[in-house]
Amino acid sequence: MSDTTDALTFAHTPNPHPTDPAKRAEILADPGFGVHFSDHMVTIDYDVEHGWHDAQVLPYGPLAVYPGASVLHYAQEIFEGLKGYRHADGSVWTFRPERNAARFQKSAERLALPQLPTDLFVESLRQLGTVDRDWVPDPEGEKSLYLRPFMFATEQFLGVRSAQEVKFVLIASPAGPYFADGVKPVDIWLSEDFARTSLGGTGEAKCGGNYAASLEPENEAHANGCAQVLFLDTETHTNVDELGGMNIMFVTDDNVLVTPKLTGSILHGVTRESLLTIAAEDFGLKVEERAVSLDEWRERVADGTFTEIFACGTAAVINPLAALKGRTVSIPAARNTGGEVTMGLRKALTDIQFGRVPDRRGWMVQLAPAR
Ligand SMILES: Cc1ncc(COP(=O)(O)O)c(C=O)c1O
Repeated sequence: MSDTTDALTFAHTPNPHPTDPAKRAEILADPGFGVHFSDHMVTIDYDVEHGWHDAQVLPYGPLAVYPGASVLHYAQEIFEGLKGYRHADGSVWTFRPERNAARFQKSAERLALPQLPTDLFVESLRQLGTVDRDWVPDPEGEKSLYLRPFMFATEQFLGVRSAQEVKFVLIASPAGPYFADGVKPVDIWLSEDFARTSLGGTGEAKCGGNYAASLEPENEAHANGCAQVLFLDTETHTNVDELGGMNIMFVTDDNVLVTPKLTGSILHGVTRESLLTIAAEDFGLKVEERAVSLDEWRERVADGTFTEIFACGTAAVINPLAALKGRTVSIPAARNTGGEVTMGLRKALTDIQFGRVPDRRGWMVQLAPAR
């Protein structure tokens, strides 16, 4: 079987040993995050001579990669993260995938990888969302099917140059809450010794190397009882950049939503961008994108004018942040942590994503129709 799109034909090889439905139901009842995988995956190959070719939907399984593949040596790899949501009529949808496609293209540019056209990116989501639609959990407890597109250099070549052979892969993993305890305020750890990236580096790209660099500080965070690590800007070491895997926002007592300006080392979060729109248009909040210093954070929690602080990203949507801890820093939780703005914005966004309210902005894209 194969499906033709404007761009490419997807050849289908059904999984001859799909997960037993009873086993799948057991997994979907309590999926955790990123530990189970659906029955299929998409792969598309690229080389300089043929461009993107050989699009396939095939059984989820190991990839054959030569030890000489340059990704294993020079980390020429990028990825994305978005979700498939089941709506009440059984149809499956995703949220603003063209934003992820655009970011994937930007990441590709920075990592000297070929750009995957937006229609091919979205079509690959449709292909997997359709063939593995039974892997999209029912939405209770905000469960979803996490979609992970990624691309890496497969060419065997040990000289340092951009590879001419590349593979795009899309896999899917049923997801429950990102933080094991669900939506509860979490303490975060300030990385005082390490940077995740720097100006002119790869902070705006979603590449594996950024996350490798955040693991040791993340371990430090966990060792200190914190859920995630916070990084400061690398120019002045005074302003807040973002967390290891989420953007950060501050709510003031006079209805302003403040978030660090995208200065070149912060990932352009799709959740961040969407929340800024919802906050301004639906909540009547004033939105400010500007530098937020650690001093402002400390002072405005102390005087009560920062009322709520939260992190945002696809995986956890919005999670309230409590105390900021560090080797030399300690700022207590804001007085209304997990309050009405945090939880109101969270509900507004998830209501759109799960189809509980009309999608006025055309943000949702269907991956599989109702049956
Ligand atoms: C470093 C970093 N910042 C921010 C985000 C939030 O981005 P998004 O809202 O597009 O998921 C993520 C997650 O992708 C991330 O890894």
